[in-house]
Amino acid sequence: MNDVPSPDLDPGADLSPEDHPDWGFATRAIRAGHRRSPEGEHCEPIYTTSSFVFASAAEAAARFAGELPGNIYSRFTNPTVRAFEERLAALEGGEACVATASGMSAILATCMGLLRAGDHIVSSRSIFGSTNMLFDKYLARFGVDTTYVELDDLDAWAAAIRPGTRLLFLETPSNPLTEMTAIAPLAELAHARGCLLAVDNCFCTPALQRPLSLGADLVIHSATKYLDGQGRCVGGAVIGDARRVGEEVFGVLRTAGPSMSPFNAWLFLKGLETLELRMLAHSAAALELARWLQAHPRVARVHYPGLASHPRHQLVGAARQQRTGGGIVSFEVDGGREAAWRVVDGTRLCSITANLGDVKTTITHPASTTHGRLSPEARAAAGISEGLIRVAVGLEAVGDIQQDLARGLDGQG
Ligand SMILES: Cc1ncc(COP(=O)(O)O)c(C=O)c1O
Repeated sequence: MNDVPSPDLDPGADLSPEDHPDWGFATRAIRAGHRRSPEGEHCEPIYTTSSFVFASAAEAAARFAGELPGNIYSRFTNPTVRAFEERLAALEGGEACVATASGMSAILATCMGLLRAGDHIVSSRSIFGSTNMLFDKYLARFGVDTTYVELDDLDAWAAAIRPGTRLLFLETPSNPLTEMTAIAPLAELAHARGCLLAVDNCFCTPALQRPLSLGADLVIHSATKYLDGQGRCVGGAVIGDARRVGEEVFGVLRTAGPSMSPFNAWLFLKGLETLELRMLAHSAAALELARWLQAHPRVARVHYPGLASHPRHQLVGAARQQRTGGGIVSFEVDGGREAAWRVVDGTRLCSITANLGDVKTTITHPASTTHGRLSPEARAAAGISEGLIRVAVGLEAVGDIQQDLARGLDGQG
């Protein structure tokens, strides 16, 4: 066997983001977090190992005691997962990032790490259904109550805060109606009242919106969506300051264990490399599709932040809160569920699936899927009509997506 000599490289030299505060977004998305091993690999390696060995009993003891840095066990830290965490932290502009097994476990770990019995959450009503369930069914059992308010009603947020309120939680844009709110005034309110503001940034990703730079304390991701971008795996992340995220949320991961696998971290690292390009392309395609839908005689209403008709369109644009409109377009057809299902069933190209954030376009009827467990009254209150369809616009040719939707819209499905 050839004994291949390792190149004489300084592992990690020139690649750590803290040495390059001037790096642009695209550079950080491609380069940050990769500390080259002495093998000199060009692509980030996947460290598929459950544990790490120590040179001696004394070294093991020192690492366990936290006196020596270094890996111990992959539930705690793993170099591939670490690379993903450093890269995402560099993109969101946070001191620390903790990667998790799913988006939901990112929210769970955040709440477990930062809240205690008796604390109170104020959340936007327009949040992902499982987040809602986590707050109402599970956190409530442990003495953490949640009050829901309208996303874009600052007075309602202020009125809902009480002495035990610790966390304000929101998604902007929301799913599936793409409702939006200004993050900065909510951050000010949170801090004036001694609370933290957490933003689920899954629809925008840091390529379009960076909540920490607007005053939010915590950013949460379902990496399953755009961070991967190709529908390959489930994962999540929390980004924020070194104490809350790097110690408190990390402590939950280390102890309770909803950690990200190294293989998934590697897929997410690859996803991040093309994140900005994809988000701009998703947004351009979604805008074109939204305009086409708006002009279609069978479409009653289109919800898309990039359209001038969106109530918070002024938040969208270069140097504004959200750089572009994003990739999610929802629209309503007259004729209720029957008409909506005709559009969904008329598609041949779009995938009928609840996931989003993929290069492949996905289509969903929220009232009978993601929001199907709500009562009809609760659905109506949330604005989820029977005629509503959500399209997560992929990167196929827009004309082909239009043709696919036209089949059902034009009654040829
Ligand atoms: C906005 C939002 N947050 C969180 C989640 C949960 O993420 P995961 O499915 O990765 O647990 C989702 C999933 O669809 C989502 O859309």
